[in-house]
Amino acid sequence: MSDLFAKFDPIIELRETLLASGQTDPFNLVMERVESPTVAICNGKRTILLGTYNYMGMTFDPDVVAAGKQALDDYGSGTTGSRVLNGTYAGHKACEEALKDFYGMDHAMVFSTGYQANLGIISTIAGKEDYIILDIDSHASIYDGCALGNAQIVPFRHNDIEALDKRLKRLPPEAGKLVVLEGVYSMLGDIAPLKEMVAVSKDAGAMVLVDEAHSMGFIGEHGRGVAEAQGVIDDVDFIIGTFSKSVGTVGGFCVSNHPKFEILRLVCRPYVFTASLPPSVVATAATSIRKLMDSADKRAHLWENSKRLHAGLRQFGFTLGTDEPQSAIIAVIMPDLEKGAAMWEALLNEGLYVNLARPPATPAGMTLLRCSLCALHTEDQVGEILGMFAAAGRATGCIS
Ligand SMILES: Cc1ncc(COP(=O)(O)O)c(C=O)c1O
Repeated sequence: MSDLFAKFDPIIELRETLLASGQTDPFNLVMERVESPTVAICNGKRTILLGTYNYMGMTFDPDVVAAGKQALDDYGSGTTGSRVLNGTYAGHKACEEALKDFYGMDHAMVFSTGYQANLGIISTIAGKEDYIILDIDSHASIYDGCALGNAQIVPFRHNDIEALDKRLKRLPPEAGKLVVLEGVYSMLGDIAPLKEMVAVSKDAGAMVLVDEAHSMGFIGEHGRGVAEAQGVIDDVDFIIGTFSKSVGTVGGFCVSNHPKFEILRLVCRPYVFTASLPPSVVATAATSIRKLMDSADKRAHLWENSKRLHAGLRQFGFTLGTDEPQSAIIAVIMPDLEKGAAMWEALLNEGLYVNLARPPATPAGMTLLRCSLCALHTEDQVGEILGMFAAAGRATGCIS
């Protein structure tokens, strides 16, 4: 019998070598208690959270928590069914209404995760004769959506407008084309030149889908994302998003003005063949989305935090993913996995949690310490975070 697990031997060995050196496992941390969006207890110690997607700090919002509790009381713990059978409750519709209002769009479809939203929308709308043109650094859920469908895949170099234009011009003019972009790329925290990319896509007769997972709630005047900030939201055909980041719970969605959009509810397999979100989750999501519409002060404070952390880390001599802060994500580039893991552990010992990110999640084989800021990080906390980076960076030799 051949062992089907033999293919995992290289990663097993890499992990064993790392842990044999006495390194704490960076992918097995337990949040023993979570006190707020910015503080948890890890290994018995107060730890500032700088590696969550809780950009707008909604997870402990009293209105959001109360809505979830009320829905548990009123509707029970789960729907036990698909959206197209017994799994659409009033709360799912209310959540879709909140999304339509948030984006000012005609249609909204809620999925059980953002991963499934990409999987479902991409695999369903791009068929056998069609082309998907996508940024090479796209999220795994976008690639998996492509793999689930039958369209031809045409990748182009990250954020390269000319490369996108060239690929589009080489395709048969009459063929169906879907350009898939992200507002914020989550590993380096850089944003896409959507204005130009949407323009070249439209010139080529392509439809455009933008995943705004990491920009919703924060970027753009109303928090609608990078497409809003760059003035092209009306030209985008589909926006994909998630509730697992700024919204502060779990779930995914697609919004669109396409007149035939509603048919997707019957033909999109990752929507049909899975149970719908629990009533408490859609209630928290709807409440959070409505509050995010009115969060300009929090958006402004988050920008302040992002600018201050970026400038401080740069001053210490760390290499960062972007020259200027472009989002709530600031990536600190590490020379290799060993150094990255050592720095990650040193920060944890200081009382700071960040994400250690490595391939296949990261581009170009990079090891990153990914910092994601929250609108509820106080000025004092940002100061503490900078102090911890300086101490851990010197202790591990990452900076002098
Ligand atoms: C760009 C992007 N799209 C989609 C997703 C999936 O979101 P979810 O956590 O809701 O499955 C993520 C999650 O990290 C993401 O970064």
